[in-house]
Amino acid sequence: MTHPLIFKTTPKGKLTGKLRVTGDKSMSHRSIMLGALAEGTTVITGFLKGEDCLATIKAFRSMGVEIEDTENNKVTVHGVGMQGLTAPESDLDMGNSGTAMRLLTGIMAGQSFDSVLTGDASLSTRPMRRITRPLEKMGATITTAEGGTPPLRIKGNPQLSAIHYDLPVASAQVKSAVLLAGLYAKGETSVTEPAVTRDHSERMLRGFGYPVNTNNNRMSLIGGGKLTACPIDVPADISSAAFFIVGASIAEGSDLTLAHVGVNPTRTGVIDILKLMGADITLSNQKTVGGEPVADIRIRSAPLKGVHIPEALVPLAIDEFPALFIAAACAKGQTVLTGAQELRVKESDRIQVMAEGLITCGVDATPTPDGIIINNSPITAGEVDSHGDHRIAMAFTMAGLCAEGSIVINDCENVDTSFPNFIAIASQAGVGVSAL
Ligand code: S3P
Repeated sequence: MTHPLIFKTTPKGKLTGKLRVTGDKSMSHRSIMLGALAEGTTVITGFLKGEDCLATIKAFRSMGVEIEDTENNKVTVHGVGMQGLTAPESDLDMGNSGTAMRLLTGIMAGQSFDSVLTGDASLSTRPMRRITRPLEKMGATITTAEGGTPPLRIKGNPQLSAIHYDLPVASAQVKSAVLLAGLYAKGETSVTEPAVTRDHSERMLRGFGYPVNTNNNRMSLIGGGKLTACPIDVPADISSAAFFIVGASIAEGSDLTLAHVGVNPTRTGVIDILKLMGADITLSNQKTVGGEPVADIRIRSAPLKGVHIPEALVPLAIDEFPALFIAAACAKGQTVLTGAQELRVKESDRIQVMAEGLITCGVDATPTPDGIIINNSPITAGEVDSHGDHRIAMAFTMAGLCAEGSIVINDCENVDTSFPNFIAIASQAGVGVSAL
């Protein structure tokens, strides 16, 4: 974090034209991790140069991996092979990024050296026992702070044992941490997930030539193999696109196209939910790039109606709820979300923080232990606090499109973690917003 950053919206914009949002965060992290462990040189295009993924780059550089960061979001990783990482001289600072910390812990568990993973104030409050439990079963020794939070002190074990693990929460980060540790374990490591979660790790491992089996809700791999470098084309992040999908849906007169967005079916819950609410969203130019489906997404504004969000869609839209809550405020009737207690342990408690911000802006919102109830309300003006959560800041920026006055959003520095040029792209699309 540098200096306090405040966003201020001006009402009554509409979103038009065609734009491409920044690269997918989940895939960008994974491309560095797998590229580093691969044999050969991995060239990544469309990489997200946000602070979260830059923390991942920094961590691997400090373990001896040469990573070239050139213009046009191109990154070149000179892989060192599965056994080629070297002990870092200092703690690895994962900043604001839960993905970086949890996935890297899986890799660190299988090293012949020890490591310490730290994070910023937000990450330092997030639950880590969900990964330390299975990794300890595999033979790693990991200590957390009291309460199961970072820093993580990892005693690597190059002779991990394979396990079968039933994930108690639907979490792609936990699934990925176990599978990445499984690369270093003897025998078959497998996980079952209670609900479908994003499968970028499985797809990208296969792209690097590593066999991963998926059988319904069970994923498995056999340790001891190798990764072979391959080119990675990272599509635009549907989680960043989501703000514009919601913005164009709620701002009358909008007609916006978002180019080359990743539309992996484990990520498209936001589109399904908005369509249930009556949104006008069409996909075109659908193709598969590097094993991942991509498409152009066209959004035209449409009257929305409230829905009870199907719980099966929750993990498929897990990062998009701050934006969806803004759509819910603009939707006729009532929107009810249940089964989403995971939102309370994201970069902020997204149920509480969104409810507080919505109420400040005149919206009838009631938080519940595992979700929220939002009744259609005019959005007034107001001053809200993002609590340092990038997605809260961007969600309230879109609320500004339908607000009666300006919305002032405090504590917006962390927008740079996932969407470094958000203000410029939002302004270009027609959102009235400036950074103070
Ligand atoms: C991610 C998984 C999700 C998501 C996060 C990125 C990933 O977290 O919220 O932003 O890249 O694997 P959980 O696995 O904790 O649900």
